[in-house]
Amino acid sequence: MKSETMAVLLLVLLLCAESSIAQDVFSPSVDIIVEIEKLKNMDERIQKLEEALTNVLSENEVLKHKLETVQKENEAKKVAFSAGLLGSGDGSTGPFDALKILEYKKVFSNVGSAYDSNTGIFTAPIKGAYYFRFYAHCHGGASMAVSLLKNGVTQCSVFSWKPVSNGNGSNGVVLTLEIGDQISTQLWKQTWVYDDTASYTSFSGFLIFPL
Ligand SMILES: *[C@@H]1O[C@H](CO)[C@@H](O)[C@H](O)[C@H]1NC(C)=O
Repeated sequence: MKSETMAVLLLVLLLCAESSIAQDVFSPSVDIIVEIEKLKNMDERIQKLEEALTNVLSENEVLKHKLETVQKENEAKKVAFSAGLLGSGDGSTGPFDALKILEYKKVFSNVGSAYDSNTGIFTAPIKGAYYFRFYAHCHGGASMAVSLLKNGVTQCSVFSWKPVSNGNGSNGVVLTLEIGDQISTQLWKQTWVYDDTASYTSFSGFLIFPL
């Protein structure tokens, strides 16, 4: 072989060897296409997770709001009061020339503050079934007549006509009330009720359940 031919042959061999090395360097065992695909998948998964997280956060807001509403409703459901007629001392109330709403001053309890001792009126804070009862007492010789009113309309009453010693009467009623309905008791004209520190004359009411 001529030395020139040998040189060319060597060159070709060298080029071949180099190109195979180059292939090893630039095409490593990692497949770029596959890697890009993996990254795309990962990106999609991250996007989905972000969406899920956003959903969870907004659901969380909705739940928080619901919880607050339920808590408020539960607070509103606590309605109960009891009051005796006189805050202190003793004596008769009446007779009056006109009907008179009784103002029970000795407040034993007033959960929900629906009863107003300044007016003697209970105002329903929520729609529901309520129970009310009242007890009236009078001394001998006096007539006693008390009615329970819903928005000014008589619902139930007690009456005692000039008892020899003294008179007692009690009545109670379950009423379905709308928000703002008003319940009170009223002393009929020319009648009496008596009360002292033992609270013989009293008015109570409570929410049984909301409607
Ligand atoms: C009315 O109730 C009072 C107090 O409980 C009692 O002392 C009185 O005897 C009762 N009156 C009648 C007529 O039953």
